[in-house]
Amino acid sequence: MPIIKAENLSKTFRIYQREEGITGYLKGFLTRDYREVDAVEDLDLEIERGEMIGYIGANGAGKSTTVKMLTGILEPSGGRIEVDGRNPHRERKKNAMNIGVVFGQKTQLWWDLPVRESFKLLRQIYEVDEDDFEERIEEFDEVLQLKEFWEQPVRKLSLGQKMRCELAAAFLHHPPIVYLDEPTIGLDVAVKERIRDFIRKMNRENNITVMLTTHDIGDIEDLCDRIVVLDEGRKIYDGELDTLVNRFTSRRLILDLKSEPNFHLEKEGVDEIDIDGRTEIVFNREKISASDLMKRVLERYDVIDFELREPNIEQVVKKIYNEGL
Ligand SMILES: Nc1ncnc2c1ncn2[C@@H]1O[C@H](COP(=O)(O)OP(=O)(O)OP(=O)(O)O)[C@@H](O)[C@H]1O
Ligand SMILES: [Mg+2]
Repeated sequence: MPIIKAENLSKTFRIYQREEGITGYLKGFLTRDYREVDAVEDLDLEIERGEMIGYIGANGAGKSTTVKMLTGILEPSGGRIEVDGRNPHRERKKNAMNIGVVFGQKTQLWWDLPVRESFKLLRQIYEVDEDDFEERIEEFDEVLQLKEFWEQPVRKLSLGQKMRCELAAAFLHHPPIVYLDEPTIGLDVAVKERIRDFIRKMNRENNITVMLTTHDIGDIEDLCDRIVVLDEGRKIYDGELDTLVNRFTSRRLILDLKSEPNFHLEKEGVDEIDIDGRTEIVFNREKISASDLMKRVLERYDVIDFELREPNIEQVVKKIYNEGL
């Protein structure tokens, strides 16, 4: 039984438009011109308990809209959603107790309260017992180092500090599901690393299902086995990141050889090119593995040096965003 299940899920926004200036304003009373935006269209999605999926797509693809429907903030225009057996919009409060959310673009903490007080409030809201609370804060602190700014009001925190708090807040009650919408936006590499470690730990140790939206391919590579790619509201890919990358790019093995190359590997889906005295072999991992290829090369030739060039995932994703699948 999937913990998150969406069927034909859709969301259409109506955007009212009017002409500029006073005439436009007056006309606006008489006629309402609007345009419809299909933010999410016919989305089918099933996520199993304990999975960590990357939810990616270009700006405006409909990722945040999906997360808002799954959290119950937005009501779908069509289709069905079931999250841990509930309709998230109709049972919004019950659903809220059962999930954690981070919207990287906004804070959910109390602006004027010291971090310590914010967490005490969260403890009460989510009914976390006192001992669990103490234990979890200690555990979270080891990875996120919250104590550095424990007494500061939230509004005085730096972006990275705030985000570490948001993450801790989302996981405090060990909910079965956490939605993270751009949790690493604007953070430096060291903070990103901490946040990734934390998400991984929570997912593995507590079997918390995580849906992660990000534009940082490093997050995805580090954390997610499965990705779902959204393009203009529609799901265009659902599967392993590796498979997607392998389908779209070739890897290259570059060799410095003592003797002239004379491979006969073309039959096996391998191209070879001679560039500036170096031999470049272009191959696809779905057809031949790097180790198999290397073994064959070493059997036949005296290799002085070699270099394996992996596909650039960033480029693959950019290509898919630009051209679709
Ligand atoms: N409240 C709203 N009213 C009208 N249109 C909206 C609203 N929220 C989102 N949209 C539109 O729906 C589409 C999808 O937006 P959404 O925020 O889900 O994209 P996203 O994939 O999260 O993009 P980003 O990567 O930029 O965060 C966009 O065209 C956006 O303008
Ligand atoms: Mg968004």
